[in-house]
Amino acid sequence: MQAGAVPLEGSKVMITTPSPLAAEWGKRIAEKGGNVADVATAVGLTLTVTSPYYASLGAGGLGLVKMNGKDPIAIDFRETAPQKTSPSFYLDKPKYASDIGPLAVGVPGFPAGLWELHKKYGKLKWSELFFEPIRLAEQGFRVSGEWVRSTERAMGKFNPAGIKYLTQNKTALLPGHLLKQPQLAQALKLFRDQGAKPFYEGEVAKDIVNTTKKMGGVLELSDFKNYKVRWFEPITTDFYGYKIFMMPPPSSSGVVTKTALRLMENLNLKDLTPLSAKELHYLAEVMKISFQGRVLLGDPAFAKNPIDQLTDTNRLKKLSDQIRENKSIQLPAMDENSFSAKTETTQYNVMDIKGNAISFTVTLNDNYGSDVVTEKFGIALNDEMDDFNTRPGEPNMYGLIQGKANLVEPGKRPLSSMSPTIVTKDNKTVLSLSASGGPMIITAVLQSMYRALINKFDMEKSINSARVHHQFAPDKVFYNKWEIQPETLKLLERTHTMEPREWLGRANGIKLNDKNILEGSFDYRGEGAAAGY
Ligand code: DON
Repeated sequence: MQAGAVPLEGSKVMITTPSPLAAEWGKRIAEKGGNVADVATAVGLTLTVTSPYYASLGAGGLGLVKMNGKDPIAIDFRETAPQKTSPSFYLDKPKYASDIGPLAVGVPGFPAGLWELHKKYGKLKWSELFFEPIRLAEQGFRVSGEWVRSTERAMGKFNPAGIKYLTQNKTALLPGHLLKQPQLAQALKLFRDQGAKPFYEGEVAKDIVNTTKKMGGVLELSDFKNYKVRWFEPITTDFYGYKIFMMPPPSSSGVVTKTALRLMENLNLKDLTPLSAKELHYLAEVMKISFQGRVLLGDPAFAKNPIDQLTDTNRLKKLSDQIRENKSIQLPAMDENSFSAKTETTQYNVMDIKGNAISFTVTLNDNYGSDVVTEKFGIALNDEMDDFNTRPGEPNMYGLIQGKANLVEPGKRPLSSMSPTIVTKDNKTVLSLSASGGPMIITAVLQSMYRALINKFDMEKSINSARVHHQFAPDKVFYNKWEIQPETLKLLERTHTMEPREWLGRANGIKLNDKNILEGSFDYRGEGAAAGY
């Protein structure tokens, strides 16, 4: 079900999310008088019931929050590495250890993130936000095709609790099956009645530690007790009269996107025909250059990130001068010592007509994360440890080769590509956007934002137009196989190694259009919903 026509328009509030049930509950909370923070919390809670393959209570994430006429601030509720890990932790373990099983799991931050968001900005009573998520867990909801496909993919890797709670006697459910999760409802009730405490000092933390320990994991209760949500100033840049607010480290997205936007300005990309071979070529070149510096970034509590150097005007001017129409720029891998600083995901957006906006990205990393589900509450646990540089020089599951700044250290958060983004113009909020898809998140948000702001496409076309993706290594351009025009592809093949993909990240977002209406849309290449009024 896609809730309503697309692009859906709202004159008061708009919500975009992959789950129609979450969008629907968010809308009801808004109708009850909830503000944007209440709605975002309600949407997040619903996702933990309907979409455990990317947004369970065992997940983490990053977001931007713009409330009460103030500039956006960034919230970091990403996972932390257990105390018993180290930079060499994975070297003597099987390659899959950071991806599948108990050693892949970092301390989940999503419960703490929702709790802090609501404590700081919520208007309705905390407990009011839980009615529908608990009802859906107890009385059941009908699983979608996407739920079935995602669960089938994980079934061979699940621990016994995963099989018990998410299959029917080891057989995959069919779309439309009514799935009840009474054990998960118990965790949600603890959350409703006691806030985040049970997840960090009580029964739920114990469930996660017990489940993973039995399987050979290293998480301890002390890892949970020390968990803290962090708030940061976003990375910002001006772009043709717009002010873009982006996620700072521990995400790489703000740095990469700021670099890209500067290069796009230098190249006067806006004068080129949108989606033409020439424009897509320049975009791919911009991405390649912008991703080159990602290798230098890491958790700001552990690494000194050379943000100013990477986004330096002179450096970027020199690089844009090297971009040519008929060939691809050749760049060496970044020398990590040359800079002085040595050293399956979901997304949702809520925006109201007063300019309050929340852009959240929540992830277990890949589908069902570590494929470990907790024994008591049936919570799917993340595999965010794979976002670290676990094996120097080797690509991770997204093909990213990472740097020293992102080595595993106790209590550290892995480098992310999550790109919650908010844009203002003359102090008015005009766009809230986010995406899933590992490093493709950054380029999905970059292109959807550019189409909406500069090409003036509506939100639906901004998100669903053909995209390209280049992440420096491997040296190829990925493209949407359904959307790109054959003649455009032929031209791009003259300069680049082109590789088709069914999807290049999945975005959703909300734009305030020229008629002062909130326009919401989402990627047709995946499940999605928009709701508002
Ligand atoms: O933080 C990151 O960059 C990744 N863990 C995001 C993973 C992701 O988007 C997977 N989605 N399909």
